Amino acid sequence: MKVLPELSIKKMVYGGYGLADHLGKKVFVRYSAPMELVSAEVIKEKKDHIEAVVKDIILSSPWRRTPPCKYYQYCGGCQLQHIQPDKQVKIKEEILLESLQRIANLNIDGLGESISSKQEFGYRIKAQFKVKEGKLGFFAWGTHDLVSIEECLLLHPAINKLIPSLVELSKNIHDLQEIHVLYSPSEDEFLLKLITPTPCDVDKMRRFKENILPKEVVGIGNYSKLGDKLLRRSHIGRSFTYMQVGRYRYRVSNDSFFQINFTLWEELIKSVVMGSYRRVVELHCGAGFFSIPLSEVSNFLLSSDSNPYAIKDAEYNAKLNMRDNVVFTHESGYQTLKNHAGEVIDLLFLDPPRGGITTEEIRLILQNKPKEIIYVSCNPTTLARDLGKLTLGGYSVKSIKLIDNFPQTYHIESVAYLTL
Ligand SMILES: C[S@@+](CC[C@H](N)C(=O)[O-])C[C@H]1O[C@@H](n2cnc3c(N)ncnc32)[C@H](O)[C@@H]1O
Repeated sequence: MKVLPELSIKKMVYGGYGLADHLGKKVFVRYSAPMELVSAEVIKEKKDHIEAVVKDIILSSPWRRTPPCKYYQYCGGCQLQHIQPDKQVKIKEEILLESLQRIANLNIDGLGESISSKQEFGYRIKAQFKVKEGKLGFFAWGTHDLVSIEECLLLHPAINKLIPSLVELSKNIHDLQEIHVLYSPSEDEFLLKLITPTPCDVDKMRRFKENILPKEVVGIGNYSKLGDKLLRRSHIGRSFTYMQVGRYRYRVSNDSFFQINFTLWEELIKSVVMGSYRRVVELHCGAGFFSIPLSEVSNFLLSSDSNPYAIKDAEYNAKLNMRDNVVFTHESGYQTLKNHAGEVIDLLFLDPPRGGITTEEIRLILQNKPKEIIYVSCNPTTLARDLGKLTLGGYSVKSIKLIDNFPQTYHIESVAYLTL
């Protein structure tokens, strides 16, 4: 294994890497920290860059700490646990600003005040465990090698308590590939997804639910995986749970998206849903997490999502929260923009998946020119790309702030406020 004996880490970059230079080539170093001197083992060498992993720390970063998790650096789930939590937020702020500058040529004066997670651990209500030969865990960084775990510090403690029965389940389903867990802290109940290449016998699933799993597991679905999409084959028990978020209550089905960091739910709504509007269009509404509070500050709200289960939940949630000024539609963001082209829109609210919005969607937005746009993003690279196009088309960025939804990992959530 080739070793680079002395690398000076200048800054952290997206993906969880420290950036160094070796003979004019960029080196991306896993598990390094800002302002430190390390030796590193080369993992991959390409024409224009090298990927490496820290071997020895020669001069330690002032922000380095002992990672609390015993699986850290074996399991690939976390990338920043060796850095103090406050510094992790600062690093993400710098990456966000730098992405906007580099990708979109946007020089933002500074970010709004970041919203920190209330807990640095135990914040996740969702887990996606990998399973291999009766063992359960997560893949090591950049591989399909399973690192078997008994607990994950990022998960809500209730999910960790469930792990022994999930291991037992893994031993009983021979071709089980993944188990996804969704936990509701307000109801103290779980929904499971079992991902298998061949169908699971429904009677067997019922027996497992009764004999292996605790009564708090209220529903189990069997799914196949097609690319990164999950397709439901069958479901036993209840296929939804409820989440209480302050004074709002949501029904969330096993197939709908829900915000993973429960410690930030209320903050997220408070900091994103502000002002008052006449006509609002919301794309990527999911089960209505933002739609319900957004409808309270709007005269009329039209919300859409491409996931039919999410739209069913959202419609139910409007009734549950007594909102009658919101209409939900099952369609793509593109279709919604196209169907409402030419209408006056005071606010367009976007919360797309990691890929951001498409060129066609941007074209329709720039034709229709909603007065304001709020863009919630979980990927600074696609956010910067999209804001670049929107600002060229006449929008200016009023402010952007970081929401530390994913402590210990490289993921960056932010919200941008744009005005025409
Ligand atoms: C990051 S989630 C946000 C959901 C919701 N805003 C929330 O906070 O719970 C992104 C949502 O976009 C939806 N989605 C993915 N691709 C889409 C598309 N092309 N058009 C519309 N919605 C899409 C997903 O189904 C998912 O509900």
